[in-house]
Amino acid sequence: MTGSEAVFRQAALKSQLIGKQDLEEAVRVLRAGDSGQANTTVEIPDEKLAYQLVKMGLVNRWQAEQLKLGRTRFHLKDYQIIDSIGQGGMGQVFKAEHSMMGRVVAIKVLPKSRSTDDAIANFQREIRTLANLDHPNLVRAYDAGLDGNVHFLVTEFVPGTDLRHLVRQGGGMHEQDAATLVRDVARGLGHAHQCGLVHRDVKPGNIMVTPEGMVKVLDLGLAGFLQEELDLHGSAANDSKKGRIVGTADYLAPEVIEGNPATAASDIYGLGCTLYYAVTRKVPFPGGNSVQKCHRHLSERPMDPRRFRQDISDEFLGILSDMMAKDPLQRIQTAEEVVERFAPWSGSRLSGAVESHAASGSHSQFARVPPPGKDEMPSDSRIFPEMEPPLSGSGSLRDTDQPTGGSQMTAPLPPPRKARRSQKLGGLLQAIAGWIGAMSEIQFYSLIGGLSLLVVILLILLFSF
Ligand SMILES: Nc1ncnc2c1ncn2[C@@H]1O[C@H](COP(=O)(O)OP(=O)(O)OP(=O)(O)O)[C@@H](O)[C@H]1O
Ligand SMILES: [Mg+2]
Repeated sequence: MTGSEAVFRQAALKSQLIGKQDLEEAVRVLRAGDSGQANTTVEIPDEKLAYQLVKMGLVNRWQAEQLKLGRTRFHLKDYQIIDSIGQGGMGQVFKAEHSMMGRVVAIKVLPKSRSTDDAIANFQREIRTLANLDHPNLVRAYDAGLDGNVHFLVTEFVPGTDLRHLVRQGGGMHEQDAATLVRDVARGLGHAHQCGLVHRDVKPGNIMVTPEGMVKVLDLGLAGFLQEELDLHGSAANDSKKGRIVGTADYLAPEVIEGNPATAASDIYGLGCTLYYAVTRKVPFPGGNSVQKCHRHLSERPMDPRRFRQDISDEFLGILSDMMAKDPLQRIQTAEEVVERFAPWSGSRLSGAVESHAASGSHSQFARVPPPGKDEMPSDSRIFPEMEPPLSGSGSLRDTDQPTGGSQMTAPLPPPRKARRSQKLGGLLQAIAGWIGAMSEIQFYSLIGGLSLLVVILLILLFSF
């Protein structure tokens, strides 16, 4: 037996997936080959043994690959890990099966590096609220546990694709689908808000679309685990704004960046940024690092989405703008209002095109998960990630920062409706003041005289009736 074979076989036994007898049986079958005569001198390569174990139904392909790498941990309490689904900044997500009940679930393993006492306390508090939530647009939480020093959360497994991958593969969504999707997310968020839970990390990677067109929000209740220190000025010393911030830079509400607690309105801002991404395939403030993005959330308006797709209507743009208002008081305040405002667009379900993209991008049963790209490296993808990989050609993220084309194309997103209303009123008063200022003295006194005469006539008429 060679060294690497020893590693594979030891890993197989240690994993508790395969018993000694099963392993011996697999080796015996392979040695016997077609002749049926066992030849004990034949070396069995890992590849063949792994294939035989899969054939015998003892492990699946993904587990066999892991064993070849010498990995041995496939159990978390009562759950057997059967596949890797994804890797975010705050740990890994696995597909797993309950050993007794056979129920297939998703398990999020929370990173040890973040498992501080505070984070665990936050998580445990929110998890209790989460356990009581039951809404078709929220991923259902089943269980939370601790195995050794590994904290994990067990949720419903959702087949399909997350919005980030859906948009990357299928391109920006049409108004109708985007409105339907945001309406469904808002329904789920509305339920969570009513139960006192703010998501704090609403973003495309946390929204799943199933092949049947169902929309489900992921990672609710996890934000407390993710608190990170943000140094807005790039210097840890003498920084008054340094605070504990939760969320992902591309979708962070200005008030949260300023150090205020996240509210339902902060989730609406995150959902607005998510909607911006869903229709344009661009984050609102592309390029730059996380700190620069945060500054831009505070002070800049994002590029008019019609720069990237011209078929967006004024009304749709108005709602998007109201969701992304920088001042939380000028923003759409509740998830219910989002549902209401999108009602004229949203269909009863997503279009067939979106559903088939969701189905084609679904996690193949034992797919090997490709390593995260440079832009999705776990170390940075959680706290303040460069979420989006540079797109090739004229649509590159860098280009989006350098507007070209006509005035409508380069204009920023229009201001929110409430701001527009006060802007209009301010403009009217300004115009009147300017008009009065431009009058000569005679014109001014004639105007006052005329107005007084009008008032006197009106009073006489009033009293004579
Ligand atoms: N319950 C689930 N069912 C199916 N797939 C899931 C589930 N939870 C997560 N996923 C998949 O795993 C991916 C990674 O999730 P994860 O939350 O670890 O990363 P993320 O959302 O990209 O980043 P972050 O760590 O910042 O939340 C998701 O984008 C989604 O595709
Ligand atoms: Mg997530």
